[in-house]
Amino acid sequence: MPARSKPRLLLGLSGGIAAYKAAELTRLFVQGGVDVQVVMTEAACGFITPVTMQALSGKPVYKDMWDVRIDDNMAHIELSRGRDAIVIAPASADFLAKLAHGLADDLLSTLCLARDCPLFVAPAMNRQMWQNAATQRNVAQLNKDGVIVLGPASGDQACGEVGLGRMLEAAEICEDVLTALIEPKSLRGKRVLLTAGPTFEAIDAVRGITNRSSGKMGFAVARAAREAGAEVTIVCGPTTLVPPRACTLVRVESAEQMFGEVRARVERCDIFIGVAAVADYRPATTAEHKIKKSDRRMALELVPTTDILAHVADLPNPPFCVGFAAESRNLDEYAQDKRRRKRVPLLAANLVQQAMGADDNELVVFDDSGRHVLARAPKLDQARQLIAHVAELVAAKDGRS
Ligand code: C5P
Repeated sequence: MPARSKPRLLLGLSGGIAAYKAAELTRLFVQGGVDVQVVMTEAACGFITPVTMQALSGKPVYKDMWDVRIDDNMAHIELSRGRDAIVIAPASADFLAKLAHGLADDLLSTLCLARDCPLFVAPAMNRQMWQNAATQRNVAQLNKDGVIVLGPASGDQACGEVGLGRMLEAAEICEDVLTALIEPKSLRGKRVLLTAGPTFEAIDAVRGITNRSSGKMGFAVARAAREAGAEVTIVCGPTTLVPPRACTLVRVESAEQMFGEVRARVERCDIFIGVAAVADYRPATTAEHKIKKSDRRMALELVPTTDILAHVADLPNPPFCVGFAAESRNLDEYAQDKRRRKRVPLLAANLVQQAMGADDNELVVFDDSGRHVLARAPKLDQARQLIAHVAELVAAKDGRS
């Protein structure tokens, strides 16, 4: 769970065209339950108005060292006290240079120097400014000083050039900052292997058998495991969703490919979580070319696929295994039966009518101690609760062995 119930951030904007992304970043932070105090440099106000930032953060915006709204006139100290981190987005080449040299000639740079919390910077500049030896020297110094540098990304730039220097997207910055700040890191040092999404079993060159799994729950569980400090590998069936950051992503299509990729990696993991909706059957043969339509009836012969979770749980020295069960009725009975049959210590069950494709979910978790309901919530919140539960069981298992 977050460092405290409502994380508190100071978002600083320096001057750059990417300042427009800071508006979206503020919205995402606020939506994610973060208290955001915005501070802007004079140059940032040339790109986006404090009014916009104030409306989005719901708090007065500060830019002036001599602002009389702070009781003791110590804005450069007061504004960062009690904050969990300072995030500078966009961080211009000039602002990075100031930070690297400890300059403090305006409110934002002074706040950074007087801080007692982590500092994140999201560089945003023209590619040549980024590549310049001076900027690279400054960034190396900031890394050495423990400043967390997010990005930059490569791509189209506002100046019309293409290259490295674009600020990361707001969602990427938000995810990276929250992942770093969320405590406890209950899975630090653990390697998690996870399956996600549907599978696609080809019938011919264009058709296939698949299911309604979106991959949302699998990606949420992967992100929650990452937030808890684990190293995460996702073996993922076809989905158009944006995957969580800082995870190794292996894309597959069929159940057989998913099994192959899991088998190749399972020896190196501590925890295996099967979230994927793996096809139980696949066509016995796949036609190389598109099957032509005719008036005759057609029968499709199906053969069972390998149960990946059961295979992993049955290994001589298995990782801690977590299964999922998507049922359309008799949730408890089927889930309990599945947990016993597949011999997994933890099984999370949900009703397909409520879960598939939805943003919210209600998981019922079964383990040796019984049945636990994780109250209906967004999938990421459910995933965080599930991972906290997994971490407790893994710690208890580690304590026993
Ligand atoms: O038996 P059922 O498909 O309902 O089991 C669901 C659980 O088993 C999920 O955790 C799913 O990822 C896993 N599974 C698997 N390989 C299969 C079928 C299911 O890993 N072939």
